[in-house]
Amino acid sequence: MRLRNLAVLFKGGGIFRKQEHLETNSPGIRRQLEIYRKGVLGIRPRFPVSPEELENKARSVLSREAYDYVAGGAGAEITIRKNREAFERIAILPRMLRDVAERSLEISVLGARFPYPFLLAPIGVQGIVHREGEVAVARAAASLGVPMVLSTASSRSLEEVADALGSVPRWYQLYWPKDPGIAKSFLHRASAAGYSAIVVTLDTTILAWRDRDIRNAYLPFLAAEGIANYTSDPVFRKGLDRSPEEFPMGAVRHFARNFSNPALTWKDLRWLRKQTNLPILLKGILHPDDARKAVRAGVDGIIVSNHGGRQLDGALAALDALPGIVSVAGRKLDVLFDSGIRRGSDVFKAMALGAKGVLLGRPYLWALAAAGEAGVRNFLQNFIADLDLTLGLAGCRSWKEVNSTFVKQEAY
Ligand code: FNR
Repeated sequence: MRLRNLAVLFKGGGIFRKQEHLETNSPGIRRQLEIYRKGVLGIRPRFPVSPEELENKARSVLSREAYDYVAGGAGAEITIRKNREAFERIAILPRMLRDVAERSLEISVLGARFPYPFLLAPIGVQGIVHREGEVAVARAAASLGVPMVLSTASSRSLEEVADALGSVPRWYQLYWPKDPGIAKSFLHRASAAGYSAIVVTLDTTILAWRDRDIRNAYLPFLAAEGIANYTSDPVFRKGLDRSPEEFPMGAVRHFARNFSNPALTWKDLRWLRKQTNLPILLKGILHPDDARKAVRAGVDGIIVSNHGGRQLDGALAALDALPGIVSVAGRKLDVLFDSGIRRGSDVFKAMALGAKGVLLGRPYLWALAAAGEAGVRNFLQNFIADLDLTLGLAGCRSWKEVNSTFVKQEAY
């Protein structure tokens, strides 16, 4: 049929009116129809679709330094590769004839219900990929009800991002500063701005040797990027001789002195526990013994993660660590996962291995770089659609039905 004829059919109802029974609550089917209907009129999606295409687009618009900072990892990037290989080694075993017409993507984490099984991972310095940085991401997330974890190292202050998120749930990721006064102030501000949990990142008390950044001699913080939470902090500012507005380099130096504390031990968690009533999650756990310690420390959750391969090169793929952590801690606290999530099928695999939810990382940054707020919103809509269809195709109506019998480890 010629395109013009199809267009007439489309406008007059025609073939699509007859298919109105396809109008379901399924975000996957709705998204497919929206796209395919436009296709009849010759309209193709405005933005790159796959995470790989988005990354290519981002590479073409970003400076070499910014692209490498986001894409890169520690050392030879063996762990970045391992993260993806671990997903590829696992196959989904779908089940048939199980009435999957109505599906729910909801999860319950830390006693709260989230509409989808993922949150946006804390990613710092988003100002290096887009002028609006975390605020653009927050607006896109808010428009779809996707919760966000905000980094301590964000380019915009936690209050500004909270405003952009409106009533959408948010967690605050803490890089635990050396100065306990600044740590307390961050926790207090996060709670006042409506963040409902604290994610303490444990794997970055020392910054890794990252070949690409070393080659580019590039660390964004030294150009005063990603320190908005510090420069807006009253306790941090008290430690400065001159204001950050007047003398940014003084603020950068003070930040560098305080950013992290490699002397921290498990005992210090007691202090942290006393400073906030919010639930605490530990991000960066890979060893079951550490998961046991987390349980004993009385925290509320664990995020199994190797920081997307950006910290310890050669570290275990996060997905390979997940079952061991779930088996020692999964009944006592909520275990979440990140490092390598790219598509709906990845989320399914992590959930089948026992994650209560996952964090989406680099792909949303590529979307931000490629097309700002609209790019992130578009990518998230596709990601949610893919998730919904994957769940149904695997033979499940909700994440409660998903377990290890739906996946199989393939031979290497
Ligand atoms: C990160 N990540 C991170 N984690 C964190 O706790 N605080 C932070 O500020 C940052 N910053 C950050 C910057 C960039 C550019 C990247 C790519 C990542 C790690 C992040 O939360 C998550 O663990 C990884 O992104 C997961 O790996 P994938 O899925 O992105 O490969």
